[in-house]
Amino acid sequence: MTGNARELAESFDLERLTPEFYVNPYPTYRALRDNAPVKRLPNGSYFLTRYDDLVTAYKSTKAFSSDKKKEFSPKYGDSFLYEHHTTSLVFNDPPAHTRVRRLIMGALSPRAIAAMEPDLIRLIDGLLDAIAAKGKIELIEDFASAIPVEVIGNLLDVPHDERGPLRDWSLAILGALEPVISSGQFARGNKAVKDFLAYLETLVERRRTKPGNPERDVLTRLIQGEENGERLTEKELLHNCIFLLNAGHETTTNLIGNGLVTLLLYPEEKQRLISQPDLIKTAIEEMLRYESSNQLGNRMIVDEVELGGIRMPAGTPVTLCIGAANRDPAQFPDPERFDIARTPNRHLAFGTGAHQCAGMALARLEGAIAISRFLARFPNYALAGEPTRGGRVRFRGYLSVPCDANP
Ligand code: HEM
Repeated sequence: MTGNARELAESFDLERLTPEFYVNPYPTYRALRDNAPVKRLPNGSYFLTRYDDLVTAYKSTKAFSSDKKKEFSPKYGDSFLYEHHTTSLVFNDPPAHTRVRRLIMGALSPRAIAAMEPDLIRLIDGLLDAIAAKGKIELIEDFASAIPVEVIGNLLDVPHDERGPLRDWSLAILGALEPVISSGQFARGNKAVKDFLAYLETLVERRRTKPGNPERDVLTRLIQGEENGERLTEKELLHNCIFLLNAGHETTTNLIGNGLVTLLLYPEEKQRLISQPDLIKTAIEEMLRYESSNQLGNRMIVDEVELGGIRMPAGTPVTLCIGAANRDPAQFPDPERFDIARTPNRHLAFGTGAHQCAGMALARLEGAIAISRFLARFPNYALAGEPTRGGRVRFRGYLSVPCDANP
């Protein structure tokens, strides 16, 4: 245990992060796991970094609540942002959560996801053709972020010429979830929810008049509900459509962006994937573990809990640090090593338990097709400048990655 690590753990405050932390949070996460795995922050909340503690929290919806009404009320006041986040599936507890999740999982069925594969391949190959013509590209804008927004657009069958604003709405709404937000971030997030709702009202209206195929069109399926008559209310429907886009956009963009940059940092692993393309499945899992695109989760203690000898009373907010748990040596041998064939790899990038990511099959499919086809087409791709990080703590990814596809 070095003095530096102890100091890092002692001074850690989620509301006052250093520029070095944004570049590389892992030394801090390691210091916390080793020295203060159940760390009390100056604002009275706790920050958890051990794998086993996260699993305990994820698996106990009774003691660790996902309902954010109390927490979001002072942060967002009576606003569109408040209504949106408190109606989203992820920020609710059973029984509301169980009912809405059943309807959403029914719509995101394996059949609906498998049916998306041909369109996904077409979309990705089209992007790769454009990249081949350009040579020098912006990896995030030209590739990683162009995929998920189209996939969710296809999922809800949003007409192509109406997809323009989706990405910025999503970024603005998620930006307002950062631990500390400016008045500008609040205003942008709030306006994005308002505009998105207005758009969805018209889309839902059109779909009610002219329903799509419920086997493939998630929006039609969500409008119609289940055969037993169970259905989302209008408010649940609109906010959870927004939530699907948000949940699936930046996270998947970052999986693709982080994955392709990480391969460049580990040329031997990149070469291994090129010569053994069958490793793509375990490679995607390792990318999810190593640079988890969603680094933080949150819960509120509703029944007093003891973790690591520390008692946390009801009413204590806790942050679950996925990025730290996914490098916990108690779960992952040699955790700092990026190994595209790592098995087993029970990472928590998608969480676990009742709220485990409802779109993980889709995210894995997008990641595998995007990265394997990019690599097959441009095996020698290289950085053409310094990548710029997104500057967020919750969603870890790059804003821009200048890249030469065919150096
Ligand atoms: C690499 C990409 C993705 C990552 C890393 C990711 C990560 C996560 C995590 C960690 C959670 C759990 C949140 C919690 O327990 O507090 C979650 C929930 C969720 N995700 Fe994902 N996600 C990804 C892609 C997607 C996609 C593509 C979709 C949909 C199209 C999606 C839809 C959802 C939904 C609906 C939930 C809420 C589930 C619930 O609360 O029951 N996600 N995701």
